[in-house]
Amino acid sequence: MWKREKRLPSCMTENVSDDLIRLVDMVKIYDTGSIKVLGLKRINLTIKRGEFVAIMGQSGSGKSTLMNILGCLDRPTMGHYYLDGIDTADMSPDALSAIRNRKIGFVFQSFNLISRTSALKNVELPMTYAHKSKKMREQRALELLERVGLGERYEHMPNELSGGQRQRVAIARALANEPPLILADEPTGNLDTASSVEIMELFSRLHKEGATVVVVTHEEDIAAFTERIIRFRDGQVVSDKRNVPKELTEEEAVKMKKEGTPCC
Ligand SMILES: Nc1ncnc2c1ncn2[C@@H]1O[C@H](COP(=O)(O)OP(=O)(O)OP(=O)(O)O)[C@@H](O)[C@H]1O
Ligand SMILES: [Mg+2]
Repeated sequence: MWKREKRLPSCMTENVSDDLIRLVDMVKIYDTGSIKVLGLKRINLTIKRGEFVAIMGQSGSGKSTLMNILGCLDRPTMGHYYLDGIDTADMSPDALSAIRNRKIGFVFQSFNLISRTSALKNVELPMTYAHKSKKMREQRALELLERVGLGERYEHMPNELSGGQRQRVAIARALANEPPLILADEPTGNLDTASSVEIMELFSRLHKEGATVVVVTHEEDIAAFTERIIRFRDGQVVSDKRNVPKELTEEEAVKMKKEGTPCC
C-alpha cells in the first residue's frame, strides 16, 4: 500500500482537507522582455487526494505551464497555488525545492535520466538530496525497480534500456521519496503503443495504491486510463469531465503477463 507521507511541522501546513491541489485565480504571464505571453488565465481548479487525472489540449494551450507550477518548478504570476494546504506563491526557491523533493515525483517525456549512471543510482538520486543513508537508498531503490518490473536490470545504464524501460526507471525515481503527488508531462510521448499502455497501467496501479496522479497527454487512448479529463484551450480550462477508466481486456493482460511487463 501507498504509505502515508510524513507530516510537515504544523506551522507549514493547514492540511485538513481532501484537496491536494487548489488553484485560486491563478495566472501565469511569461515576461520575455519585449512581449508578455499569457500562459494561463485565471485558473480555478481543485484536485483531490487519490485522483487520477489527464490534462489535454492543443499545443500551446498551457499544459506544461500548469504542470511546472503544480510541480513547483515555477510560480504563479498572480493568484495562489495551495499544495496540500500550503500556499506556494511567496515561497523562496529553496523552500520550493524542499517541498518539491518531499511532495512531488515528476516524470518527463524525455525520461531525464542521468546517462552513464546505473538505473539503481538514478533511482537513488532524490533520496541523496533527502539525506537518506546509503544502505537505505540502495534497498529502497532496488525495491522500487522491482516494483516497476526492472529488479534484474538495476546495474544497466539508460542506453542499455528500451524507451519503456527507461520511463519505468524514471517512474521508480519519481517514487523514491514516497511523494503524495505524481506529475507526468507527456510520459508516453516518446513511446510506442505497447510501452505506452505499460506505463499507463503502472500509473493506474500507483493510483489504486493511493497516489494522486496527473498526466498530460495529447492522446485520447492515454487519457482513457484516467478517471477525470481536464481540457485546456488558450490557457483556460474548457472542459472538466469524469471518465470511466479503461481496463485492459483479459487477452491484453495475459499477453502482457507473458511478456513479463509489470502491470499485472
Ligand atoms: N518560457 C517561456 N517563455 C515565454 N513563453 C512561454 C514559455 N513557456 C511557454 N510559453 C508560452 O506559453 C503558452 C503555453 O505553453 P505551454 O508550453 O504550457 O503549452 P503546452 O500546452 O504544454 O504545449 P505542447 O503540447 O506543445 O507541449 C504558449 O503560448 C507558449 O509559447
Ligand atoms: Mg507541453
